[in-house]
Amino acid sequence: MTYQGLIHRYGQYLDLPAHTKNISLLEGNTPLIPMPRLSAELGCELFIKFEGLNPTGSFKDRGMTAAISEAVGRGAQTVICASTGNTAASAAAYAARAGLRSIVLIPEGKVAAGKLAGAIAYGAEVIQVQGSFDDALTLVVEITQKTPIALVNSINPFRIKGQKTAAFEICDDLGSAPDWLCLPVGNAGNITSYWAGFKQYQKGLPQVLGVQAAGAAPLVLGHPVEKPETIATAIRIGKPARGEQALDAAQESNGRIIAVSDEQILSAQRILAAEGVWVEPASAAGLSGLLAESTVGKFEARGKRIVVVCTGHGMKDPSIITESFQSPKVIPANYDALIDLIEE
Ligand code: F0G
Repeated sequence: MTYQGLIHRYGQYLDLPAHTKNISLLEGNTPLIPMPRLSAELGCELFIKFEGLNPTGSFKDRGMTAAISEAVGRGAQTVICASTGNTAASAAAYAARAGLRSIVLIPEGKVAAGKLAGAIAYGAEVIQVQGSFDDALTLVVEITQKTPIALVNSINPFRIKGQKTAAFEICDDLGSAPDWLCLPVGNAGNITSYWAGFKQYQKGLPQVLGVQAAGAAPLVLGHPVEKPETIATAIRIGKPARGEQALDAAQESNGRIIAVSDEQILSAQRILAAEGVWVEPASAAGLSGLLAESTVGKFEARGKRIVVVCTGHGMKDPSIITESFQSPKVIPANYDALIDLIEE
């Protein structure tokens, strides 16, 4: 039978209510891509779980199929979320599919072009808030307490249920959990979901390395960050809604949450692209953390099986390329100019 999406494939593990009406864009089923060069360099077996290949280009589609399916099943007509961009695009797409109205609140001027374009294309009402993601989240929590509008941020428990499927897929592909799972941490829904998923699936437990951007690292600093700042705008979050659960996951798994600089994130982004996997900056944080720690001898990768989660596609954030990569050269349209340039 052809693939029919996550609720069809893993519904028996998701404990969704009976009223759930399956709304799917055939999300999930993303590849676990072996990385031979990185593996050889680190002496390990390294795979990328490439979540950028979901229908809207990020892992958010896993939780969104569950959240929208539940919301539409109980008669919701409008959904709302705060977002650094990917949740917005995903909510907009699944709401469109279900015939719901969607409203998304984003921090003004801090959302990557591909995400904003997606949210608009799928028909969301996009509202820019003069504040951070955290401010926008406070607003949507308040409005969903006072009106029948349904909240589809990862505070919504169905988002977490849906996102557990990534852990199930990794176990199904590898036959067991990896030794380590490395991933970015922003609002902390994803790390919470993976940990819950591995525990539930009973194919072994990885150690978890959660990685924040240094300018938005409340879980490393131990206190909220009022003005988070990072080039990895997806994880530009100072008050993670599921921060406690993220810390629990790190601790229970005998792992940790660390911070890396924007330079380290961009370097990991280039390393991934150089092996054929282009991800948005936040998505490179997991690898960046792994490399940063192994360089200083804090992470023993040798002999380990490691899965690095790359949460969103590089096409989400094209502006970063001219800053961090080589920009294209320009020549007149003649052969001499071309041969001169490539033999330079
Ligand atoms: N990577 C990407 C590409 C993201 O978009 C996000 C979160 C994360 C990692 C972190 O995941 O929040 O579960 O810890 N993006 C949210 C959004 C906040 O609004 O799209 P998390």
